[in-house]
Amino acid sequence: MDEQKLNRTIAIFGCGEVGATLAYTLVLNPICNEVILVDPKTDLLEAQVRDLNDATFRGNNGTRVRAGTPRDAAQADIIVITAGAKQKPGESRLSLLSRNLNILRTIFSAMQPINPHAIALLVANPVDILTYFARKLSGLPESQVLGTGTTLDSARLRGVLAQRAEVAPNSIDAYVLGEHGDSQFIAWSSITIGTTPLEQALPEGHFTPNFKQEIAEHTRGAAAAIIASKGCTAYGIGNIAASICKYILYDVRCVRPLSYYQPDLECCLSMPAVIGRKGIVRAMPMRLDEGERRELEACAGHLRGVIDGVEMELKAKVELQSALEKETVRGGDGSGS
Ligand SMILES: NC(=O)c1ccc[n+]([C@@H]2O[C@H](COP(=O)([O-])OP(=O)(O)OC[C@H]3O[C@@H](n4cnc5c(N)ncnc54)[C@H](O)[C@@H]3O)[C@@H](O)[C@H]2O)c1
Repeated sequence: MDEQKLNRTIAIFGCGEVGATLAYTLVLNPICNEVILVDPKTDLLEAQVRDLNDATFRGNNGTRVRAGTPRDAAQADIIVITAGAKQKPGESRLSLLSRNLNILRTIFSAMQPINPHAIALLVANPVDILTYFARKLSGLPESQVLGTGTTLDSARLRGVLAQRAEVAPNSIDAYVLGEHGDSQFIAWSSITIGTTPLEQALPEGHFTPNFKQEIAEHTRGAAAAIIASKGCTAYGIGNIAASICKYILYDVRCVRPLSYYQPDLECCLSMPAVIGRKGIVRAMPMRLDEGERRELEACAGHLRGVIDGVEMELKAKVELQSALEKETVRGGDGSGS
């Protein structure tokens, strides 16, 4: 990689609920000089830019927000993708796939050439599948394409365990791993409060199969419960995405469960990694017990199945297109002879 020049610019594709909340979080906690918003809804885009800038004028805030084109966004240090359809109440994240994959394709082709040092951060759902395809569409090195993955689910897990154990959430080390979706799982065997294993840290008799099931259901269903009442989730993910941007720009080297390519599983899913200026600095191997390893393999198998389905569909489309082109050429020859 050439020597990198840091402009401290963050581009956000999509200025709906999630994109605007992320931009607002970046304005309130300034970590960059400029936020570039890109959205085909031009009236919404202009209104969001004006409203967000109003939030910067009161203090001595150095962050400016502006509307941009995909080509402007392509030169940013971090390119965040929140563009895409969101779940309707009761809808699964995977059902958004074909719509959001088309949007992703449009975005990456409109951005070429991309700053070779840029980090692409995927937020739109289904985030693990989109992260997998963004690696291919962006042309960026593997380590520079990542998804928010289960960082939000893990924060929710820490929140609920903190209530049960009556300690601060940041004293809990706990990870939800795998898919940011229904096949996610909790790595129970490694949870600690401070340095004390969870089972020992909870009051005696609390760490039962029922407790584990209840917490797992809470974590897995948290987004759906919020969407059922307000139609979207935005503050949690806005905050998580803003902190990931900070870890990248300031080379913080935090360990977080981000979605990134797992060569042995041939898909993107969340496992702990060190995050810094170059994106995924390195994987942080995690000891899983036998049951957790089985859950990881089932989760990867499920994601791999979805990826295979998409790839087969893409291949069939290309073959059909080339057959149609050949037919047109033959038809043209026939009429001309
Ligand atoms: N990863 C997570 O943890 C997480 C959490 C919450 C939401 N999400 C996902 O984030 C996505 C956005 O959710 P939302 O509530 O902001 O939706 P929204 O409908 O409010 O906003 C989406 C925006 O994307 C824009 N868009 C569409 N095509 C575009 C393109 N080519 N370029 C730029 N912008 C484009 C739309 O015009 C719209 O303004 C959804 O897929 C949702 O499921 C992910």
